[in-house]
Amino acid sequence: MPQEHDGLEVREAGDVDTPAVEAVVEGAFGDQGASVNDVMARLRGVEDMGVELVAVEDGDVVGCVALSRAWVDARERLVDVLVLSPLAVAPDRQGRGIGTALLEAVPAVAERLGAPLVFLEGAPEFYGRRGWEPASAHGLQRPSDRIPEPACQVLLLPGHEPWMTGRLVYPDVWWRLDLVGLRDPELAQVEETLTAR
Ligand SMILES: CC(C)(COP(=O)(O)OP(=O)(O)OC[C@H]1O[C@@H](n2cnc3c(N)ncnc32)[C@H](O)[C@@H]1OP(=O)(O)O)[C@@H](O)C(=O)NCCC(=O)NCCS
Repeated sequence: MPQEHDGLEVREAGDVDTPAVEAVVEGAFGDQGASVNDVMARLRGVEDMGVELVAVEDGDVVGCVALSRAWVDARERLVDVLVLSPLAVAPDRQGRGIGTALLEAVPAVAERLGAPLVFLEGAPEFYGRRGWEPASAHGLQRPSDRIPEPACQVLLLPGHEPWMTGRLVYPDVWWRLDLVGLRDPELAQVEETLTAR
């Protein structure tokens, strides 16, 4: 860290980057941007934010990713893990590898934070092509049935051990803002798309 290729730098974000990160999130998530920014602000406030990375091109923040704290409720003990959310790229810069560059920076940063596992909710095609696997394949359960099973994905890091199975538990902030999984009618639509594949 930082990593740079083709004029794109991926580095850790500081407080000074927050307004630019919020603008990228607003652009990428549209109507949902405000609530995504709200959860990020609250995670920073209660120190549940692990790390934020930004992608910078020509001095502009053009993408961001956040890793925040959660647990796996394993039989032996709670395991500290990370949740990747959000991943966002400014709409006019999408489709040029910036999201992929941000994802490539995640394993090293997550490992440095001591996490054996990183989770996310997202499209299985996009993340599956980038090394993520269904959490269910590793004995890991989603925190809500409203996350379609293939959408709850995990990245195994070198600290992972086979006994680390159980349910992913999100901290309170995600529930307070009702940002866990999807709700109908969007949930039904996404489930239909996933079963049609
Ligand atoms: C999803 C997102 C982060 C990808 O970033 P990106 O920089 O466009 O991604 P890359 O250029 O590295 O890769 C392009 C991939 O994104 C997919 N994609 C998704 N939305 C896209 C868009 N609007 N334009 C171009 N590609 C898009 C493409 O299908 C392509 O996938 P593939 O290479 O596996 O076929 C970005 O499109 C985004 O911010 N979307 C809105 C917010 C969002 O949905 N975040 C993810 C929540 S799980």
